[in-house]
Amino acid sequence: MLDRRTVLAGAASLALTLSACGLESDTSDSGSGSSEGGTVGIAMPTRSSDRWLTDGKSVVANLKAKGYKTKLVYGDDDPKAQVAQIEKLVKEGVDALIIAAIDNKSLNGVLKKAADADILVIAYDRLIMGTKNVDYYVSFDNEMVGRMQAHHIIEKLGLDKGKGPFNIELFAGSPDDNNTKYFFDGSMALLQPYLDGKQLVVPSGQTELDKITTLRWDGPTAEKRMNRVLSKYAGQKLDAVLSPYDGISRGVLSALHTHGYGTAIKPLPIVTGQDAELESVKSIIAGQQSETVYKDVRKLGDAAATVVDDVLNGRTPWVDNAIGYKNGVKPVPAVLLQPTSVDKSNYEILVKDDYFTEDELK
Ligand code: GAL
Repeated sequence: MLDRRTVLAGAASLALTLSACGLESDTSDSGSGSSEGGTVGIAMPTRSSDRWLTDGKSVVANLKAKGYKTKLVYGDDDPKAQVAQIEKLVKEGVDALIIAAIDNKSLNGVLKKAADADILVIAYDRLIMGTKNVDYYVSFDNEMVGRMQAHHIIEKLGLDKGKGPFNIELFAGSPDDNNTKYFFDGSMALLQPYLDGKQLVVPSGQTELDKITTLRWDGPTAEKRMNRVLSKYAGQKLDAVLSPYDGISRGVLSALHTHGYGTAIKPLPIVTGQDAELESVKSIIAGQQSETVYKDVRKLGDAAATVVDDVLNGRTPWVDNAIGYKNGVKPVPAVLLQPTSVDKSNYEILVKDDYFTEDELK
């Protein structure tokens, strides 16, 4: 029996043959891409942060360029809504799904339906856990992201030169996002020796992952926690805050301002971040947030589209790590892009890459 992927591969090669003969197959554009490559459903987690808007646009643009129709949906940080959206895409008969999960463990049921319908499933940026029905993973080297944030703190505080002791508080991402652990583990691999050696001290004592997570990466949630900690340990001036994501960093900075930080006698601590969101890059330029990790999500969109296009055309996609990303049921072959640490000294890279214009950063 021919499955959908084989049929599509056949259709694509027929299209190639026809166009080689000067005859086009039906490439009518319904406003969301041409039709010979099939239709791809894209389920993104939220519209509340710049990066996911860029991700959505980029995945669509890259798929369209390869001749696919696209259906892009946003789950607005509601796991149930995301499941319903994916269910609808499965019913509509998409050929592939690209999914950035809101809750990585909530998708088992719907992905079973996708598998029964022979739909290719790509986990986008966030690994989908606990199911065999996920075919590929495209992301950045997430552990490296955490290492870069920690490296920034170590360098700025001069920990590697023996300076200290300094006070630090630790923040982590959403507990239902598999990336959270990678970022945290990456950071702690570098910070733990300084905590052990007491060059770094955590006034709140909260160093375990389950004590420092931030549900749905929500800035105001992080702000509340930072406020609580700053009130309780008011006597201990903070020198650094490990933050895994720009939205959290902005919440943290807001709490720090509330508690009188940001003056000559009480300078802001070093605050890390991730995603190079416009507001945070401006904050870095203004000397508030110290660092972010830039992940060019336009390249991630391209990587996801390439995997889809390869598989639907019967080719084996390139993967960087075939066995390292285990989802509790199986290793999911992973394409991993490299992140870049950005601070005040090198933010121009974002302009050079056309990620932002000089004007946007003003
Ligand atoms: C993670 C992602 C980060 C950040 C965060 C909050 O899954 O890897 O780059 O975007 O979600 O949206």
